[in-house]
Amino acid sequence: MVSTKHTQKPQHLLTMWRPRVALVLLMIAIGWFLDSFKHRWYVFDPSELHELAQAAIASASSPNDTAGMIQHIVTNLTLTYPSNRIKINLDSTEWVFNNAGGAMGAMYIIHASITEYLIIFGTPLGTEGHTGLHTADDYFNILVGEQWAFKPGQLEMERYTPGMVHYLPRGTAKQYKMHEGCFALEYARGWIPLMLPFGLADTFTSTLDVVTLYYTIKVTGREIIRNLFIGKI
Ligand SMILES: *[C@@H]1O[C@H](CO)[C@@H](O)[C@H](O)[C@H]1NC(C)=O
Ligand SMILES: *[C@@H]1O[C@H](CO)[C@@H](O)[C@H](O)[C@H]1NC(C)=O
Repeated sequence: MVSTKHTQKPQHLLTMWRPRVALVLLMIAIGWFLDSFKHRWYVFDPSELHELAQAAIASASSPNDTAGMIQHIVTNLTLTYPSNRIKINLDSTEWVFNNAGGAMGAMYIIHASITEYLIIFGTPLGTEGHTGLHTADDYFNILVGEQWAFKPGQLEMERYTPGMVHYLPRGTAKQYKMHEGCFALEYARGWIPLMLPFGLADTFTSTLDVVTLYYTIKVTGREIIRNLFIGKI
């Protein structure tokens, strides 16, 4: 069969492309609209979380007492936020692997809803990869170890140590390295479901770890739904 592609008249191209262009414009308009009110549902505050991360480090029995820091953080959040305002996952033994952007670590999901998430992410081994290009703002509060980062054009690395926050505004991407062991309190705010494809892609293209996929979806879904039930979008 001879392809008819090359013989299409310009009018055909126009009728073919018009709905697609309209669809893209519609999606941009929806994006703008969604962007205009997402902040209404934010409960956490980046600077308060930064203070909390620093207080957790100060209260820990040693600079590598990650478990003590996590306990401090979860206890504080539970006392600060009533459970009818935001749901917190109290089970700090519930860790799942996370492979994203070529980096690998584990995470404990403290909170997940449609517009915010708060997790402990890290690995005692160290890892390195791409941060992902996100539509959400990301605040990476270092608890233990160091995180290094750079973006093209920088000839020297940025270096984040315990007590510092690595702020990654939406639309920025970097290469990062958690040199040797590192754990962080990561807070992201924006339309979280849009971040999930990046968070899961390595499972389909690389690890094929369906058990991790199952637990990631189970825990994330459960937390988002628990929050939806109390009206926390
Ligand atoms: C939670 O942590 C913050 C920051 O360290 C502190 O100001 C606040 O008093 C703590 N709240 C409770 C209930 O412990
Ligand atoms: C912290 O480091 C010290 C000395 O390197 C070690 O003895 C201790 O077991 C470590 N503690 C934890 C919780 O990893």
